[in-house]
Amino acid sequence: MFTGRLSDLIDDRPDEGIFRVSRAIFDDPGVFDLEMRRIFESGWVFLGIADQARDPHDFFTTDIGRVPVLVSRDGSGALGAFVNSCPHRGSRVAQTLAGNARLHVCPYHSWSFDSAGRNKSVKLKRAGCYAESFDAQSHDLPALPAFGEYRGFLFGSLDADVPPLETHLGEAAKLLDLVADQGPDGFELVPGAVTFTFQANWKLQLENCSDAYHFTSTHPSYIRILEQRQTANTGVAVKSVWESSDYWREDAQGVAGGSFSFPHGHVLNWGIFGVTEALPLFEQAEALAERHGAAKRDWMFNMRNLSIFPNLQIAENASSQLRVIRPLAPDLTEMRTWCIAPKGESAQARRQRIRQYEDFFNPSGMATPDDTVSYENCQRGFASRVEPWLQGYSRGTTASKAGGNPFSDLIDMKPARSVLADAQLGDETLFQSYYREWARRMAGVIGQ
Ligand SMILES: [Fe+2]
Repeated sequence: MFTGRLSDLIDDRPDEGIFRVSRAIFDDPGVFDLEMRRIFESGWVFLGIADQARDPHDFFTTDIGRVPVLVSRDGSGALGAFVNSCPHRGSRVAQTLAGNARLHVCPYHSWSFDSAGRNKSVKLKRAGCYAESFDAQSHDLPALPAFGEYRGFLFGSLDADVPPLETHLGEAAKLLDLVADQGPDGFELVPGAVTFTFQANWKLQLENCSDAYHFTSTHPSYIRILEQRQTANTGVAVKSVWESSDYWREDAQGVAGGSFSFPHGHVLNWGIFGVTEALPLFEQAEALAERHGAAKRDWMFNMRNLSIFPNLQIAENASSQLRVIRPLAPDLTEMRTWCIAPKGESAQARRQRIRQYEDFFNPSGMATPDDTVSYENCQRGFASRVEPWLQGYSRGTTASKAGGNPFSDLIDMKPARSVLADAQLGDETLFQSYYREWARRMAGVIGQ
């Protein structure tokens, strides 16, 4: 049980330019328990994409905090989301990550449920000597109290008392549009999901996705291998965008990218790549400009790391990755990751996307292991309370402005705050959005 105060965890004094986070927020078991209840189990959480259950009776399983969830498309084509727990004794009913099933049979006592979550049978019911009142109770899988879809992105909540999904996403929804609109028929998950764990707190993953400052420090081997490939000119057909852009390309005004912050904890960190053949989207450059206009097309080619608080991240750089963050313990986190791609791209573009994906992502790639080792190094350092306050939330303080800028105007997007950065700024003020939303959600259970 956490008995401290919010001010022990987050030191937020905007007038003095101070924003600090305590090490305790990452390793205190009492804080973790409250996070599960207040952040994950009583707000909107990303579940998956509609395409994961494309056909009637398709399903996939996921979790909201500690609670197992089943998302299933019924025989009429309607999507439903249910607590994946048998009303009988509570066992998880669906056992696999995904599949197609007209009937889900609980492995414990064989109660069965159709693809709309309706109870179809109670084993040996007639012999069961049930009272009449038993029939008056619903034996169905309980539907999630809130379930919503935005452009194929599915979200659910264990608490009905949440704002409408459109309100939760707000202007950040326009960044999901940049993903959904890349193909004329939307986007899909490339087969080959990867699940891995790291021994560190889930918020390290939340931060790292938005952390431009770490790239050259944490990933020198990745950068050097790309440079070696380029120098050796070994005939490697796939050229990475990192090689072609010299990592961060500044425009005529010295802007290499920046960040946007939105209400409810969503953030974007972005950089300019330009419309380059080093990206698999290049074959569609003209078609995208025709469909959406050049400005929105150019945004699709920008490097973009999007976090939809608390558990969805979409990283688009040399390739494109969708990540779901699943906290398991204060110092243990599971990641489920997929390569995402526009439906209908050519085999050549898909090949380029997958090769560049393998380069950068996955526990077998050249960047992900660097990051997870750093998370675990941080987690070890969090054990100290000699000086509890961390100083990693301050870069960009004098560059952060209320509202948007000419780049957000290009896609008519109105963020709460924005930073324009040169190649070296490495803004950290966008992390503040995570922790202000975190504090807002925890305010009811932790004293000020
Ligand atoms: Fe990284």
